[in-house]
Amino acid sequence: MQDILDHITATIGQNPDRGKTARYIPDLANVDLDQFGIAVCLADGREFQSGDAATPFSIQSISKVFAVALALGKVGDSLWQRVGREPSGLAFDSIMLLEREQGRPRNPFINAGAIVTTDTYLEGSTPKEALGGLLRFVRDAAGDGNIHINSAVARGEMQTADRNFALAHYMRSHGNLTQDPQHTMGTYCHQCAIDMNCIQLARAGRFLLGGIEGLGPRLVHKTRARRIQALMMTCGHYDGSGDFAFRVGLPGKSGVGGGILVIAPGKASIAVWSPGLNAYGNSKLGTEAMEALADATDWSVF
Ligand code: DON
Repeated sequence: MQDILDHITATIGQNPDRGKTARYIPDLANVDLDQFGIAVCLADGREFQSGDAATPFSIQSISKVFAVALALGKVGDSLWQRVGREPSGLAFDSIMLLEREQGRPRNPFINAGAIVTTDTYLEGSTPKEALGGLLRFVRDAAGDGNIHINSAVARGEMQTADRNFALAHYMRSHGNLTQDPQHTMGTYCHQCAIDMNCIQLARAGRFLLGGIEGLGPRLVHKTRARRIQALMMTCGHYDGSGDFAFRVGLPGKSGVGGGILVIAPGKASIAVWSPGLNAYGNSKLGTEAMEALADATDWSVF
């Protein structure tokens, strides 16, 4: 495995086109494009890493995986009355389908769906308490207390969140937002601003491997883990989800910070990071690296 990762790290940057960083969050726009890291936690407990695997980055939408697990833990399957389980085929921040579908977002991984998910785990607590609960979940999953929210990133995002606020208010007009939109959006922006490195993220993803003995605490039932992976496969890369399934064949969740969390069911949790994004807003080199890793390991589920 170490040879495979080192080979990917050595060869991945050969194409001079490394994509573009997300422009709309000031602290993400200036991240150095030359970085690349990858970490793999195998189901047998062995861990491997290569490149900038210890460099922290903003996990952004990858947080939606932890948020949906937390919300499901709180309200169970009633979450699905407020958010669907179908791919949207549209950009992560699109508002288009919300009007046609009465303010019920297609899935918990597009922004509208994630805002409803945040609204759900926020209910009954303050934003600070709710974020404390989310951080606890992520730290427990990673077995690492040194995971924090980057408040500068959160602030920057709050200041540029007009479209997310529009989504929140639109859903509220349909009765699909129960908390003060300012609180829900503040919680959502802070949730997206969690910093992690590839090693921490790959470790945190092990909770989706289905409670394999000795692999950290069992945070969700294996049926729920399986369903979250199904959503990652079908919706984890927005309108690029089909392309990721085609090229990699594994459930994954991307974020505009350039990270991707990928699960090889029953085999491994993988985190890859490179800040340059492709046209869908998913890490360009991260996707290419996952394609190479899936080829080399034969881990595609297909
Ligand atoms: O809601 C937003 O705009 C971001 N904080 C998260 C978006 C994101 O990561 C989309 N992923 N590719």
